[in-house]
Formats: sequence, structure tokens, C-alpha cells
Amino acid sequence: MNLPDLKEAKKRTDIKVTEKQVNYHFPSAFIGKKYFLRTYGCQMNVHDSEEIKKYLEMLGFTETTILEESDLVVLNTCAIRENAHDKVFGYLGRCKHLKREKPELLIAIGGCMSQEENVVEEIKTKHPYVDIVFGTHNISELPKLLLEKKDKQQIEVYSIEGDVYEGIQYSRDSKITAWVDIMYGCDKFCTYCIVPYTRGKERSRKLENIVVEVEELKQNGYKEVTLLGQNVNAYGRDLNLGYDFKDLLEKVALTGIERVRFVTSHPWNFTSEMIDVIAKYDNIMPYIHLPLQSGSDAILKLMGRRYTKEEYISLFHSIKEKIPNVSITTDIIVGFPNETEEDFLETLDVVNTCKFDSAFTFIYSPREGTPASLIKDNVTMKTKESRLRRLNELVNAYSLEANKRLVGSIVPVLILGENEKDKKRIYGYTDTMKLVNIDGGHDLIGKIVQVKIIDAKSFSLDGETEKVGEAI
Ligand code: SAH
Ligand code: SF4
Ligand code: F3S
Repeated sequence: MNLPDLKEAKKRTDIKVTEKQVNYHFPSAFIGKKYFLRTYGCQMNVHDSEEIKKYLEMLGFTETTILEESDLVVLNTCAIRENAHDKVFGYLGRCKHLKREKPELLIAIGGCMSQEENVVEEIKTKHPYVDIVFGTHNISELPKLLLEKKDKQQIEVYSIEGDVYEGIQYSRDSKITAWVDIMYGCDKFCTYCIVPYTRGKERSRKLENIVVEVEELKQNGYKEVTLLGQNVNAYGRDLNLGYDFKDLLEKVALTGIERVRFVTSHPWNFTSEMIDVIAKYDNIMPYIHLPLQSGSDAILKLMGRRYTKEEYISLFHSIKEKIPNVSITTDIIVGFPNETEEDFLETLDVVNTCKFDSAFTFIYSPREGTPASLIKDNVTMKTKESRLRRLNELVNAYSLEANKRLVGSIVPVLILGENEKDKKRIYGYTDTMKLVNIDGGHDLIGKIVQVKIIDAKSFSLDGETEKVGEAI
């Protein structure tokens, strides 16, 4: 297990990817035992956790949401920023404490942090009470690792190579919306990002396998699928089978499932044919998450993003022109090494031009092993924090503005469930991915309803169904 250097990792084009079937022949040896699973990071990890849950449940475990009740703790970790890392080690402290009182407790760590060599070293030396470490490429080996558990710490992590598994079963969190992996890994190597190292090279699933999965989900009553990949626009290119993301989107739309979403889009591979397909099908939702990262050409170059400010804005406008009513959200990093006030103002300029529906904003966090971590960071933490504050103020003002524009209009909302904080209310998402809270109407859960928007906040909308509540 190695975290490769950039040059070595880029040679991965020679690695042969094989399609494999997951083996579900193992005994239910843990009947009566409980597992506690904690997930950090992105949607990909959330979906991987649905796979992990299925293995655990087939082994006989049942889930508990109370750590102290568990016989097995699984932490599915994220490595994207330093704070993700700190959160996991903080939580591990709690698990260690619990294991002192309950020595038979099993602790397993998986996810992106397990793919980092320095983290594995740290677990080996400082956290010997951790029983199992598994990586992102061998989730399906978790049953074997648990069944063959040894007295000493078991570390089973593969390096960058990853195969594509088919026939994976999931214990899905929702009966209404489902994640569908369309590809794994990332070949973009943005200079700040750990993902290409923790998730391996870009590997697409075959189009027909994805379509069959969506058809099955539809038959099982699912209303929405979200196609998942680190940059979905690159889908299919590694397969060389003559199809790409636009073809996949079209085939998925033609299954007739009510809502199709996808994350994440990368501006670099976004073709005008893809925009045309999104515009053509009513069941492909008018919502695109299009990370900008920075508005400065100099910083974009340092980040290895392979587009300029102008190219981003021009793509943004062609999406807005062709897809009526589309909402576009973004990710932005502030305080990248060498980012000057002028560079930062370029970022604010893009925000002022694009007026994003919302944005996830981050302070740059150096990740060991990435090229950017070698650049001397000459931006003070105070400056980074102040830029983040200034950016957030602007971003939030535009989010509120976008939401306010919806007040008085009637929009389609897929109702997902009861509001956790206020059980009298239900919540759902508009076609444009805006969160709407509604009083009452619990019988509407799982349905797409026309909702009148009556109030807007920066991060959510309030709606009512009484006058227009006809379910479709
Ligand atoms: N594949 C997606 C998202 C990957 S991670 C994409 O390319 O857009 C989600 C977001 O985390 C990124 O868009 C980026 O804004 C942020 N991020 C990634 N690495 C980071 C780092 N080292 N420091 C701060 N933010 C980072
Ligand atoms: Fe990371 Fe860039 Fe790949 Fe996104 S596209 S996962 S930011 S390397
Ligand atoms: Fe984190 Fe891995 Fe996702 S690093 S953001 S969980 S791909």
C-alpha cells in the first residue's frame, strides 16, 4: 500500500481494469450483534456505506444508532481536508474509551483515509486497538475480514488499482431516491486534491449495467436516481466503447424514472451535446453542480483545473441559455498558495456574474502527497478566514435572492419525509434541488407534488400544498 507520487500515479493508464462480481456466499455468523456505522465525506462515501450496511446485515448484524450499544463500529472516513481527518481521530478517541469498558468491541476503519499511507502508519503505531483497516477498493472484502478476524490488527488496503464490481447489493437509506455509481475514481489530478490517490484511476461501469440498475430501482418504486462520479462528464471515456455521458444520460432518461440527477460535473469535459440532452428530457432535473474553485486564471492554472475564468463563464451562460429555469451551484476554495487579493477579487467577480444558487466554500487545506502541498503557502490563516467570510456573505446573499425569486410560484417537489426537527412538517426538494419545508401532508411522502412557495430563507424555502396539493 503506497500513496504514489504524481508521476507514478499518472502512469496508471496501463493498469488493466477488470469487471468482477461481488461474492455474497458467506455465513451469518454475527446474528444478535449490533453495528454502528459513521460516514464522513461526500455522496460517494454515503453510497459506499449503503454497500457496507448490506454486508453487515447479511452477516447477521443489526444497526444501532447508539455507539455504546454496538459490538462493531465502522468508520467510513474522508480525507479531503485536514478537519475531516481530525474529526475521525477525535471520534476514534471515543471508541477507544468504549473498548476499555467493552474489550470484545470490534473497530473497523474504511474509506478514503485508509488509502493514505501516513494515516495507516498512525493507526498502526498510535491506535493498536483498531481491529480492521480496509480501503475503498476492497469494501467487498469486509465480510471476509470480519469472519477471519485475527488477534492482531488486520490491514487490508490495496493501492491505486481498482476493479469495477457489478452485482453490488445495497441497504439503501431511502425508498424514494437512490444513488447509482456510474464511475469510480478520478484522473483529473487537481493539484490540491487527494481523491485521485484515495479512489484510484477513472473506471466507468458499462452503460447497460447502469441502465438495468435504474430500471430495477424504478420497478421497486424509486422516484429519483442520482448518477454518481467525481466528474460525471468524463463517463465512458476509459471504456472506449463509443459512448459517453450524454448517451448514458439519454438512456437513463428513457427508462422513464421520474427524476434523474447527477453529480459532480467538471467544467472541462462538459460538452454542448450534454447540455442539449439535459435540456431535451423533462425527467433530467434542471440542476447542475459545477465547481469553479477559483475565478483567477493564475490560481486555476496552479490548481491544474484546465479552464480559464472566461471559459467557465461562457459554459455557465450556455447552460443557462439552453436549459430553462436551471439552477447552478458551485464549490470554491479560498486561500490557495499564492492567492493575492486581486486573485480573490476575480473569484468574487465570477460570483457576481454567475449569481450561483448556492455554493460550498472551503479554505484550502494542504494534503500530504499532492503537488500543491509542496508549494510554499504564503497566505496567512487570518487572510484565508477573512476571504472565506467575505465570500460567504456574497454567496449567501445570492442564495437568498435566488430563493426569494421563487416566492409566489408553484414548483414540483419530491416529498422525502418528515422534518427531523419539527415532526409536524414534511420536506422535499424542487426539481432545481432546493429544500422546501411544508406544514403537514405526511401522506404525500414519496410523491411529487405541486407546491406553492410562501417564504424564502438562504438555505431553504417554505411551501404549502393545500390549494394546489394534487399529487401526480
Ligand atoms: N470531484 C468533485 C468534488 C471533489 S471534492 C469536483 O471536482 O468538483 C469536493 C470539493 O472539496 C472540491 O470541489 C473542492 O472545492 C474541495 N476540496 C478538495 N480538495 C480540497 C483541499 N485540499 N482543500 C480545500 N478544499 C478542497
Ligand atoms: Fe479532486 Fe479535481 Fe478529481 Fe474533483 S476533479 S475529485 S477536485 S482531482
Ligand atoms: Fe472525502 Fe473520499 Fe469523498 S476524500 S470527499 S470521501 S471521495
